[in-house]
Amino acid sequence: MAETLTVTDNRTGKKYEIPVQDGTIRAMDLRQIKVVPDEFGLMTYDPAFTNTAACRSRITYIDGDKGILMYRGYPIEQLAEHSDFLETSYLILRGELPTSAQMEQWTHEVTFHTMLHENIKTLLQGFRYDSHPMGMFISAVAALSTFYPDAKNIFDVESRRLQTIRLVAKVPSLAAYAFRHIIGRPYVLPDNDLSFSGNFLNMLFKMTEPRYKPHPVLERALDVLFILHADHEQNCSTHAMRGIGSSHVDPYSALAGAAAALYGPLHGGANEAVLRMLTEIGSTDHVPAFVKRVKGGDGRLMGFGHRVYKSYDPRATIIKRIADLVFEVTGKNPLLKIALELERIALEDDYFVSRRLYPNVDFYSGLIYQAMGFPVSMFPVLFAIPRTAGWIAQWEEMLTDPEQKIARPRQIYIGSAKRDYVARDKRK
Ligand code: ACO
Repeated sequence: MAETLTVTDNRTGKKYEIPVQDGTIRAMDLRQIKVVPDEFGLMTYDPAFTNTAACRSRITYIDGDKGILMYRGYPIEQLAEHSDFLETSYLILRGELPTSAQMEQWTHEVTFHTMLHENIKTLLQGFRYDSHPMGMFISAVAALSTFYPDAKNIFDVESRRLQTIRLVAKVPSLAAYAFRHIIGRPYVLPDNDLSFSGNFLNMLFKMTEPRYKPHPVLERALDVLFILHADHEQNCSTHAMRGIGSSHVDPYSALAGAAAALYGPLHGGANEAVLRMLTEIGSTDHVPAFVKRVKGGDGRLMGFGHRVYKSYDPRATIIKRIADLVFEVTGKNPLLKIALELERIALEDDYFVSRRLYPNVDFYSGLIYQAMGFPVSMFPVLFAIPRTAGWIAQWEEMLTDPEQKIARPRQIYIGSAKRDYVARDKRK
């Protein structure tokens, strides 16, 4: 028997049977319940979408209570252990792990699309020397749409495939160019003999040596961080990607919007905010006073709390392990002590425990990035590189879902009733 929810309208005594599928009711099924006879029907009010599923997705599964994260059914712990970013991005984008031949082709395609049009350099040179690299990244991604006008053919499978390769391949180059711009060094061309992450390190850090050799521990650490950040179902930036993409704009423009959403301190900008917070705290002695301030409503403990995870973020557990490996190579980040003390105090404090606030992915990632030589302003850019795979997969899933239309939420109007225009000299 089909599951239904019986709703009784106490005003009219009428009963409605609303089908329940996958633990949800369809908001449109509530329309049959008329609030006033000539109105279009009952709506739901859900600011910030805390209890609304906006799509059916096969990409990423999260169980926030149990701390589970899976891409296409594969647990994040197994991918972080055995996979690499390029293979994981293939999995996220195409739905299955690649065979050896598929992996070879995917690696070749991404590797041979890492070059940027020379005019991108001119675009980036227009930015001030101290520009935030995320602002440069967002602008440069948007600019790519002008270099690839064929990207407008969003319903052409081959065009989508090509833009996907271009985006996954070119975002590290854009990020590296933005970085080199702010540190005043010449841009470095990609090296096709290196891995995805190894080449990214090359484009960032190569100096005068004829061939850049990435440190294998740092190369692997960065790659695992990329795996951990590749997708996270319907978060703020993915919602932006789907929402913008639903107007059928090209994927570069949509992705620039998604990256802009990621930039905010409550989302991908949080790891930058964590580092600034730890620097501001300055020493472990100041931690109790800082926690007290947060509990008093003065600011937030950045890198703590999550809309979905109400236990330890599984990515944070893996990142903590990577941090130890990285610090063996780079030396300990002096802010680590403060972070550990902050975590210790917060996890014992009823304010955080009762609200189920645990460290999220951003709490430790910034410490690793800083130890690897990245300025804090690069952190959100480092997030955007792997998330590009997730954004495109989500965008394509939205485009090919026959139930999706242009995103257009409703509102409850609480403004003035009709009133007549008053000439300016008659206004009080
Ligand atoms: N520090 C202190 N208190 C917090 C924190 C925090 N980091 N996060 C939530 N709270 C408190 C809120 O004040 C609220 O308390 P109240 O019930 O007394 O009013 C309660 O916990 C619930 O918080 P909400 O804001 O309702 O939770 P929401 O799900 O909307 O927010 C968010 C989630 C934005 C991640 C939040 O926890 C936060 O701001 N964290 C800090 C920023 C951060 O680390 N963001 C990165 C998230 S991971 C990512 O995007 C990759």
